[in-house]
Amino acid sequence: MEKTQIPLIDQYNRHLNYLRISITDRCNLQCIYCMPQGGLPKLRHEDILTYEEILRLARIATRLGVRKIRLTGGDPFLRKGVFDFIPRLTALSGLEDVSITTNGIYLKGNLERLKSYGIKRLNVSLDTLQREKYQRITGYDGFAAVWEGIELATKLGFDPVKINVVVIKGLNEDEILDFARLSLRYPFHVRFIEYMAIGVTDPDVPLCHIPSSVIKDQLEDHGELVPIPKSAYGGPAERFKFDGAPGEIGIISPVTNHFCHRCNRLRLTASGYLRPCLLSDREEDLRGPLRNGASDSDLAAIFLAAASKKPHEHHAASEQSIAFSGQMSSIGG
Ligand code: 5AD
Ligand code: SF4
Repeated sequence: MEKTQIPLIDQYNRHLNYLRISITDRCNLQCIYCMPQGGLPKLRHEDILTYEEILRLARIATRLGVRKIRLTGGDPFLRKGVFDFIPRLTALSGLEDVSITTNGIYLKGNLERLKSYGIKRLNVSLDTLQREKYQRITGYDGFAAVWEGIELATKLGFDPVKINVVVIKGLNEDEILDFARLSLRYPFHVRFIEYMAIGVTDPDVPLCHIPSSVIKDQLEDHGELVPIPKSAYGGPAERFKFDGAPGEIGIISPVTNHFCHRCNRLRLTASGYLRPCLLSDREEDLRGPLRNGASDSDLAAIFLAAASKKPHEHHAASEQSIAFSGQMSSIGG
């Protein structure tokens, strides 16, 4: 395939230079907003892209202008061979940044090698700072392991270490300030994310988001939030700092203030579908063509087709529950 290709620009002139790749749908947790009790049916091994297939697609994506890749899951560290795969991915020419989103359970013991492979940025999902509540939310007594991983990552110089907090009414809204205060002591980027009603959750326990305006009011009661200007492709968070804090605070409002106009993402699901929008079930099959002899140019054309179908925006705020048949654990959030 020739080097110069039409880059991934959609019909609304958004440059899609960021690819999130879910490498597995397996997770060792069962967060109440993501997995029902008993878990979800697992993808069959043969339905999941091999590392070779992922690397081929990643190479094609970088030729089309993708500069950032984030590995997600499930939990990426649960997939066998991931530590052989990561250095092969980070070695791809043209990629400026490879980062990982994890639940943090297996972080601590793997940080040194992640660092040696060139990973600098980590996102850790953590919805509570209380051990018992952690077990209630995730079904696993793992708070200490996650926290130790986060602290060690910071000591080892990962920057930023982001903490993703999905804020749910009646569950962890009482901890908003506790999380925000972490930014006064540590260089963490604490990210509050409005809960989206998209997982397969227990119908008897309805979950509800807290609007970002309410989150912000709570934070402002503590102290002035100094805005941090947005960088060109800096992601969807509105960013702030408490005066003098080493860390920062971000608020991501997919429900009440969607940021679709600035969205620069494509998602590759664990089963090899390209998803132009998290909240739309429209997907392009890459796995089928990949396994049926498609050339690099054929596959590049599928990337371009997915880009051209990226919706202008979603309508999550106007709907009680978002029409969504995908599973977060194979799409990767
Ligand atoms: N609403 C908002 N965020 C979610 N995540 C998973 N499910 C939801 C949801 N229903 C978050 C996870 C993780 C990120 C990839 O997506 O907490 O940090
Ligand atoms: Fe929780 Fe993420 Fe695992 Fe879902 S994939 S159960 S949100 S840790």
